[in-house]
Amino acid sequence: MMNRMGVVGCGVMGAGIAEVGAKAGCDVVVVDAFPEALDRARERMAASLAKAEEKGKLSEPAADILARLRWTTDLAALADREIVTEVIREQLDDKISLIHQLDGILAPDAIITTNTSSIPIAQLAAASAHPSRVVGTHYFNPPQVMPLVEVIAAIQTSPEATDRTAEFCADVLGKKVIRAKDRSGFVVNALLVPYLLDAIRSLENGVASKEDIDVGMVAGCGMPMGPLTLCDMIGLDTMLLVSESLYAEHLELRFAPPALLKRHVEAGMYGRKSGRGFYDYS
Ligand code: 3HC
Repeated sequence: MMNRMGVVGCGVMGAGIAEVGAKAGCDVVVVDAFPEALDRARERMAASLAKAEEKGKLSEPAADILARLRWTTDLAALADREIVTEVIREQLDDKISLIHQLDGILAPDAIITTNTSSIPIAQLAAASAHPSRVVGTHYFNPPQVMPLVEVIAAIQTSPEATDRTAEFCADVLGKKVIRAKDRSGFVVNALLVPYLLDAIRSLENGVASKEDIDVGMVAGCGMPMGPLTLCDMIGLDTMLLVSESLYAEHLELRFAPPALLKRHVEAGMYGRKSGRGFYDYS
């Protein structure tokens, strides 16, 4: 079973996935182009593990888990990895360029997985000289808490790479795995994103206040958090990119980004991560 894991990109999702790997006993190398991003992620992870340790939720000292992680800006540190997950921003060109670079570093049988929310995996696999090793692994935010991973094979992906990836997610990381077709949005975002965009449209159309829209879905439907709070947690910049990818693929209005979402992103209001989105977190 694979154990040497790499994660490229250490925003909220990348750092969360790295934490899941280290907790599961993997040896994890985390790469990010920005040293400040590595520092921030390392601090957040140390705090999150310290809290979990305090609550008695860890089966070993937090320090032992942290010791299984290496943090670097150097992609070459991934050379001996068996599985590398890219979790960089949702931009096709950036992801293609990264996959090119990984090809030159990894062993030919190492698996590259992408955590894209909505870009077809075939487009990313086509960027690799070994497209059969590229697999989609779509984690959910926060990855430390949400059990699901969607595993997606592109047309070019080998059944062996898909099976090894699904086994790794389920048996090593302890995730609940579902397999999805390579269609933008896969299973979950194709259902979730129109609902979230409709909540933004409700706010835009003055149906109710943001608080009442959120309370409505929590108190009325048992959702763990309201849709506008969830948008802020996912990140409004991510929501916009996901919505644009879904719309480009399906050409259905239910996936089209509402103007209010675009205005928030243009204003730099990305949600929780920037301190302000639909709500103020300052
Ligand atoms: N890291 C580690 N642990 C965390 C965490 C994090 N970032 N956030 C919450 N937790 C833990 C807490 O420590 C707590 O643990 P405990 O029960 O042992 O004390 C537990 O999770 C519950 O957290 P809280 O008590 O702080 O708060 P809630 O009970 O409100 O739960 C939540 C928080 C788990 C985020 C819950 O509100 C929830 O499930 N929300 C919906 C999340 C969701 O829908 N995610 C999917 C988004 S879509 C996506 O990611 C796809 C993308 O492509 C767009």
